[in-house]
Amino acid sequence: MHFRKEYLPIPFTYKKPQTSTIFATVIKKETIDRIFEAAQIEEVIGEFVNLKRAGSSYKGLSPFSDERSPSFMVSPAKQIFKDFSSGKGGSVVTFLMEHEQMSYPEALRFLAEKYNIEIEETKQTPEQEEARSHRESLYIVSEWAQKYFKESLLNTDEGKAIGLSYFTERGFSKETIETFGLGYSPDKFDAMTTAAKEQGYGLEYLLEVGILKDKGKGVYDGFKGRVMFPIQNLSGRTLGFGGRTLKTEKHIPKYINSPECEIYHKSKIVYGIYQAKKQIVKDDLCYLVEGYTDVISMHQAGIKNVVASSGTALTSEQVRLIGRYTKNITILYDADPAGIKASFRGIDLILAEGLNVKAALLPEGEDPDSFSKSRKIDEIQTYFEGASKDFILFKTQLLAEETAGDPIKKAGLVRNIIESIAIIPDGITRSVYTKECSGLLDVPEKTLISELNKIRLKKQTDQNRKEAVKMKSQTAAAPPPFDEPPPEFFDPEFQAKAPKEVSKAGTYHQERDILRLVLNYGQTVIDVDSLDEEENEIIVQMKLADFVAEEIFEDDLSFDEPLLMKVLEMYLAELKVNEERDPVTHLSSLEDSEIRELVVDLVAEKHILHNWKSANIEVFTESDKMFRAVRDGLYAFKARKIQDFISQKKDNLKGFVGDSEDLMKLLSEIQELEEIKRQLLASQGIIII
Ligand code: CTP
Ligand code: MN
Repeated sequence: MHFRKEYLPIPFTYKKPQTSTIFATVIKKETIDRIFEAAQIEEVIGEFVNLKRAGSSYKGLSPFSDERSPSFMVSPAKQIFKDFSSGKGGSVVTFLMEHEQMSYPEALRFLAEKYNIEIEETKQTPEQEEARSHRESLYIVSEWAQKYFKESLLNTDEGKAIGLSYFTERGFSKETIETFGLGYSPDKFDAMTTAAKEQGYGLEYLLEVGILKDKGKGVYDGFKGRVMFPIQNLSGRTLGFGGRTLKTEKHIPKYINSPECEIYHKSKIVYGIYQAKKQIVKDDLCYLVEGYTDVISMHQAGIKNVVASSGTALTSEQVRLIGRYTKNITILYDADPAGIKASFRGIDLILAEGLNVKAALLPEGEDPDSFSKSRKIDEIQTYFEGASKDFILFKTQLLAEETAGDPIKKAGLVRNIIESIAIIPDGITRSVYTKECSGLLDVPEKTLISELNKIRLKKQTDQNRKEAVKMKSQTAAAPPPFDEPPPEFFDPEFQAKAPKEVSKAGTYHQERDILRLVLNYGQTVIDVDSLDEEENEIIVQMKLADFVAEEIFEDDLSFDEPLLMKVLEMYLAELKVNEERDPVTHLSSLEDSEIRELVVDLVAEKHILHNWKSANIEVFTESDKMFRAVRDGLYAFKARKIQDFISQKKDNLKGFVGDSEDLMKLLSEIQELEEIKRQLLASQGIIII
């Protein structure tokens, strides 16, 4: 049952998604397919988690949280996992990314190796190729420079005499130098320039990443005579460098850092994350220090869960990067009050991301580098554990000491602290802090709470309003059947009172349910009632997904919820690429966590149901009645769309200005839409929206 396009006032555009944008990788799609075909999720995850069979699935204790009763589920049939305690879920690749901190291509390569699959690289469009090859070139010259610096540190006389002896003096071992890829840039203005020319590396790329410089008079080495600290991304690729001079002249800057470029964004990376990520997850804690040498010395001392923001003030992107591995950050401070206070602003950012922040003060005259060098790991750990204080309390104490006896300063301090507390997303945490700080500041808790509420109210008026509307639309009772006039028909003031969004109640669930059916049964062939050319009733067999696609796209319709629409389009595009393979496999391994988690949730819902009912009946019933379910879902969806169009036309009618011909046209359009609605109803009996 389709209705004619000319009745649709909203232009719906169905853009075919490009499958190439789904995977931003250089591994050939066929290789990826082969990897997914070969990989057995229960086998791979079984290496990390103790899995027990439970019906058609496997169950185990969540590897992402501490728990006693298993809520971690693996489905061999759908090749997905779902962790109900942490909410994480996805494919075998997602698991490796989440649990082993691999990047997407790393996870694919890991599986390829495990299942003996040869990796082939993909061909891309010329534009993609060019963009990629430009970025790739920047990576390649950076990688080359890193090797060059390392070679010159370890295997040249100058490097050994100057660079290596400096590192050795600092106490860095051979192994540490290797782990962090340290190097040395020869003390000549043209050493790298010459080597790059000889070996055929494009000077333009080396200039772009700042390894070479040109201020108008010619090209020269940018890091001449410095020891080199490569800055690496999550998978260990070199993005840039920090170079430390070994000279003591005042006018020479101690460190030179790579400039921002297409591959290096200071605000998005923290130094040492590649070497630290595994330990961060293991300890569920990340230490944050100031610089390269602090990270390296602590790592060598055995404290490997440590990163540095490298000179720049901390950014929310850096916090989120750490937040992928742990929710707990401990900042290590030198005992320098000015430095500590300067960092406070940055720390509010960490609080805003919902992470737990602690601070540990080092003994007078020590920095993390010197502190960890002179002590054994046990001693260091014991000290850090003892010295770690909750950040807000740490800040409160520190500032309270300073403002003692000065009421005006103290009032400022109270506001300052309350502002930090107000940023924390979790309400319980906030109230714990107000209680504690009331004691520390000697201010009644009530006063703090009322101050806190004022700040939050002011900050969140907008957001609260949005959330309220969303909540309302989610919990609102089912709307009246559409063959009854809506409330505004009877009450002209209704519209002014009720927010528009509320009338959308149920739409989201309707669309979500259609998508859920597609994800779970999209490839199942169903019998569809149809008409042949002579209008005889016939039964056509088609895939459920194709039926849905036809019903939606032939009417030029679209889901109201863009994310649901996007997933549906991606599913259909995947199905076109390969008829045999279940698109869920691909969708559940996307890097985009929003899409991936939606897909897994929709697929897993069936399993939750299954577990609850402890029998296959529920699933069986649904697949048996699949055609009915999807058809009813689609008609309900369409009926709502038509109702929306009718309401819109009626809105136009209200403030109508124009000649009677236009008015007649509008009225007849409404009538025709009403007729379509009637037909839809007639073909379905009563539809429950
Ligand atoms: N740092 C920087 N730029 C500077 C100074 C410092 O990026 N101009 C960062 C570096 O990451 C360095 C950290 O801050 O590792 C600590 O600074 P500092 O102790 O001055 O550097 P060190 O190399 O440890 O020097 P020193 O041997 O004098 O302690
Ligand atoms: Mn230092």
